[in-house]
Amino acid sequence: MNDDLKALIRTIPDFPKPGIQFRDITTLLLDPAGFATTIERMVAATVGPVDLVAGIEARGFLFAAALAMPLNAGVLLIRKDGKLPGATIAEDYALEYGEDRIVMHEDALVPGQRVLLVDDLIATGGTARAAVRLLRKAGAQLTQAQFVVDLPDLGGADALRAENIQVDSLVT
Ligand code: PRP
Ligand code: ADE
Repeated sequence: MNDDLKALIRTIPDFPKPGIQFRDITTLLLDPAGFATTIERMVAATVGPVDLVAGIEARGFLFAAALAMPLNAGVLLIRKDGKLPGATIAEDYALEYGEDRIVMHEDALVPGQRVLLVDDLIATGGTARAAVRLLRKAGAQLTQAQFVVDLPDLGGADALRAENIQVDSLVT
């Protein structure tokens, strides 16, 4: 069903390191109909009402912001360290190709608010699991996590499901 979207995502070998097959969604974003269809399908896959869509820097912001509008939700930014001006809470995580730290404003949500986590892609799940820890630390009620692309061989989506989160993606 999503082969039309898959065809708009290209693979760049050996980026950013040798051996990584980089799934590049910039080509999907360049296609107006493809981007619109992506957001429509993410809206259709959304479970229940959400108060906030949490997007992960940087590519996740694009999908989170577009999705928040039809869902009548706000956008919560999960950023790399050092980018947010207010007081933050942080989580460290390992990437398929490195290590990093994500942060959010400590007052970005009211405890109990329903939050949909969104990113362009899940690989090892290190980023998304750190985001879940961060959001739960702030008191969020995680309703679901959605990704445009899942790389199932890397096990990230299953690791998230093991933490009791509904995970949906459009393209594997
Ligand atoms: C990519 C992608 C996800 C993460 C997935 O982001 O957008 O956030 O990696 O990998 P994981 O499941 O193994 O954690 P990246 O850190 O490359 O940042 P960018 O969006 O700023 O390019
Ligand atoms: N983030 C982590 N692994 C990735 C991959 N293979 N392609 C694009 N983004 C990624």
